[in-house]
Amino acid sequence: MDLPRPELFDFHGVSMTHYFTDNWENVQNFKARPDDIVIATYPKAGTTWVSYILDLLYFRQTLPERETTVPIYDRVPFLEFFMPSFSGTDMADMLTTSPRIIKTHLPVQFIPKSFWEQNCKIVYCARNAKDNVVSYFHFDRMDSGQPEPGDWSSFLQRFKDGRMVFGSWYDHVCGWWDKKQMYSKIHYMFFEDLVEDTGREIKCLSSFLGLSTSEEEKEKIRRDVQFDVMKANRVTNLTNETSLDFSVSQFLRKGKVGDWKNHFTVAQNEQFDQHYKQKMKNTTLHFRTEV
Ligand code: A3P
Repeated sequence: MDLPRPELFDFHGVSMTHYFTDNWENVQNFKARPDDIVIATYPKAGTTWVSYILDLLYFRQTLPERETTVPIYDRVPFLEFFMPSFSGTDMADMLTTSPRIIKTHLPVQFIPKSFWEQNCKIVYCARNAKDNVVSYFHFDRMDSGQPEPGDWSSFLQRFKDGRMVFGSWYDHVCGWWDKKQMYSKIHYMFFEDLVEDTGREIKCLSSFLGLSTSEEEKEKIRRDVQFDVMKANRVTNLTNETSLDFSVSQFLRKGKVGDWKNHFTVAQNEQFDQHYKQKMKNTTLHFRTEV
């Protein structure tokens, strides 16, 4: 039976849907372990890409069979996601591999406190606002678990207003950026850098995580996480995900920097730039919209 699309509502000042708030107590009381690795992102900023890189860095050599059998969303539980039959917190608790790699889209103020208490390593991946909103629009068109996207121009307006699932992109990327200045175990990385030089970013990740991955293995990972390779790979292309309608769009859709140019009108771009300047005036965080 198809479920109706969820409605957005205000949750402690952040727009959310019930899928990410129904298990709130368990999420907030989640017991992190010191070696947990968190991958945090605003939706559509490259979460799956980074999750897969981290999983390969940790497990390919010891558990090669899982690379062809276990979908990435089962290897990297989505902490706050909840359905009555299934919860991210239970999945994380039931993982048999160590360290646990745990994905979240929560804005920084919602992160369960045990991750800070346990001094866990966190990888935050951010993507420029223009490509992020385009990717989010196409995803919401294909994902019946998301609110109705409406047309492109109303979606863009909602994005500017912060009325998206997981709230304002501006608050998310800036909130995590501010936290990084105080908490040294955040590796803040950018989707655009990953596109520009995936090998370099894999090296940075490996060194942040304190791994001694061989050059040969890093090169192998670089090849296996290329867009076309991940798109052809059943464990990363999400084709088994029943809420996604692949006749509407693709999960691995374009994987580019600058696709926003195919969506924004000249007027939308001018208005967006003006609004962006205002919203980002107090931060040192800088994004590239082309590489
Ligand atoms: P597009 O919709 O612009 O193509 P998330 O995993 O956070 O939902 O992010 C999805 C976005 O990351 C999609 O962007 C997807 O194509 C892109 N992506 C995923 N894997 C990628 C890869 N290997 N190379 C480039 N982009 C990738």
